[in-house]
Amino acid sequence: MKRVLTGYRPTGRLHLGHMVGNLQNMLDLQSKYECHFFVADWHALTTDYADTTKLIDFSYEMVLDWLAFGLDPEKSVIYRQSDVPEVAELALYLGMLTPLAWLERNPTYKEQLVELKNREITTYGFLGYPVLQAADILIVHGDLVPVGEDQLPHLELSREIARRFNSLYGDYLTEPQAILSKGKRMPGTDGRKMSKSYNNAIFLTDEPDEIYRKVQKMVTDPARVRRSDPGHPDVCSVFAVHGIFTAHELKKVETECREAVIGCTDCKKLLAASISEALADFRGRRLDLSERPELAEEVLQDGAGRARRIAAETLGEVRARMHICRTK
Ligand code: TRP
Ligand code: SF4
Repeated sequence: MKRVLTGYRPTGRLHLGHMVGNLQNMLDLQSKYECHFFVADWHALTTDYADTTKLIDFSYEMVLDWLAFGLDPEKSVIYRQSDVPEVAELALYLGMLTPLAWLERNPTYKEQLVELKNREITTYGFLGYPVLQAADILIVHGDLVPVGEDQLPHLELSREIARRFNSLYGDYLTEPQAILSKGKRMPGTDGRKMSKSYNNAIFLTDEPDEIYRKVQKMVTDPARVRRSDPGHPDVCSVFAVHGIFTAHELKKVETECREAVIGCTDCKKLLAASISEALADFRGRRLDLSERPELAEEVLQDGAGRARRIAAETLGEVRARMHICRTK
């Protein structure tokens, strides 16, 4: 069976953007492949090394959200990157053979330098991020890596690094393939992409009244000023979100908006109800899990044990091929 691998930075509680962008995809992959899902806590350091106080709690919250959503530690290997020190050692070796130019031309690197200019991220760790990512993938011989369009250059780098290793030390590392994830884009309450840092997110754990309150704040068709004005659903993010959560009644919402049969307040009320309903099962399970705070750590430890068995084997072979020393 092909092995899928993907990691996420621990950002704490997950929101609807994560749900429609990644989680549903992960659930789908879990039933088809052997999956490795990991908490990329070292990766979080590449941009957020200055304040690390939330790392552990954020990791637990993310894992509990994963479990409540249906990721199953019996089926998938769920672990924390920093619990697999073999990854760091492999990253060191891969760093030796990765030309600087490959890292400097990485479009995400260039973009982030501009975007995060309030943080000092012209660091060795941030530039080397794709090397660490390559180590994550190559250490478990990941065959398939689900990525969004924007992450494709990173995966290409992992492939190049694998090829370089193989041409120097003999064919051993598996060149990973991308699976382009068909995750949907979820607008936040202000119409921009949903993100915790934009303060426009609806969290999976939000209660129905909280969801209602947030949805009522959402931006709509700016041309629809009065209740009697016909609306333009195609420019309204409320409608875009209906497309994800009220798919069965979408035509109706569309005509009633265009013909000013429904007002924005009621339209949003309907949306809040659809979202709350879609989250109802999750919320129940997540509440049960909150009563077992030690569970996240248990799952991570068990997953780390499984990941490390594979990682140690890969690292032993890598060391042997590089003549580092005989002991594993
Ligand atoms: N790059 C991903 C992010 O920024 C996290 C990540 C780290 C990853 N290593 C990976 C994703 C390996 C896929 C495969 O969130
Ligand atoms: Fe948007 Fe709904 Fe208002 Fe139409 S009725 S503009 S879809 S919120």
